[in-house]
Amino acid sequence: MARHIMLAVRRIIPDGPDTNRLVLQDPDGWPLPKWKPGAHLDLQVPGIGPRAYSLCGDPATQESWEIAVRCEVNSRGGSSWVHDVLRQGDVVAVTMPRCTFPIAAEASRHVMIAGGIGVTPFLAMAHEFERRGVAWTLHLLARGGPPCGLALAGLAQSGRIRTHDTARQARPRWDELLDGGPTVGLHAYCCGPQAMLDGFAEATRDWPRGTTSIEHFVPPPLPAAEGAMQYTLRRSVTGAEMEVEAGGSMLKALRMLGAQVDASCEGGICGACEVRWLEGEPIHRDRVLSPERRRTHLLACVAQCASDRLVVEA
Ligand code: FES
Repeated sequence: MARHIMLAVRRIIPDGPDTNRLVLQDPDGWPLPKWKPGAHLDLQVPGIGPRAYSLCGDPATQESWEIAVRCEVNSRGGSSWVHDVLRQGDVVAVTMPRCTFPIAAEASRHVMIAGGIGVTPFLAMAHEFERRGVAWTLHLLARGGPPCGLALAGLAQSGRIRTHDTARQARPRWDELLDGGPTVGLHAYCCGPQAMLDGFAEATRDWPRGTTSIEHFVPPPLPAAEGAMQYTLRRSVTGAEMEVEAGGSMLKALRMLGAQVDASCEGGICGACEVRWLEGEPIHRDRVLSPERRRTHLLACVAQCASDRLVVEA
């Protein structure tokens, strides 16, 4: 199961409407492991389970990790626990950061489009782009005051942040946000509510493959599993097997076979349940694995199978 590390909540900084930024440190002051911009961690919420939050501080800082949590009206329990229960000085359990929304290293220009609290991964990326000296622009669309305004102020001298208060002005057109792209060297990113992600996907539909990236907050509807069939699932480590019906959960089946497989979103967007597959024909329905990675790995919470047998390394 997920290995957790215990971190102390050193500061809770109100930073924007209904938004608290948490500064987490090792309780004894040891430096924290490095992480990649765009990474997120799972915060273990007592009695509820893991909740994923993007790291939003400067990735070069190993003194602390930062996450920002907006108190959602329809909270499933995670954000209200952070706002109503968690206090400065408490110790929390978190997983190691996992990056499913990486910087496109080959691009020379980066346009990031955020909706509300979707700005969090871009704060970390912006620090990294500044350090690398590459061109970047961050568009933040929010109603009223922006989330993480204080954190954004630390990047304001770059002159590369555009905030759009959609309560006071018309929402910018996609071609304005996308910097007239696609053009050579440009990579566009989007993180925000589903309607914004759908608009982004539509606006960039004809862009060359690999020049856009999307980060989901909540799992979108799963695509159909064309060709899914009943199969024998086998753990290579123990040889244990069981039959899984077409449409059944591979994650549940692996756990029934005694495998320790992590999970967080259970909707194919966080990467926690990744396992290596060795034989068979998986049907991938996740939103994060690259075509290359899918040749060797699958996400068990959403994967199905198009062959009568599947062997996974677990
Ligand atoms: S649990 Fe998040 S991708 Fe499977």
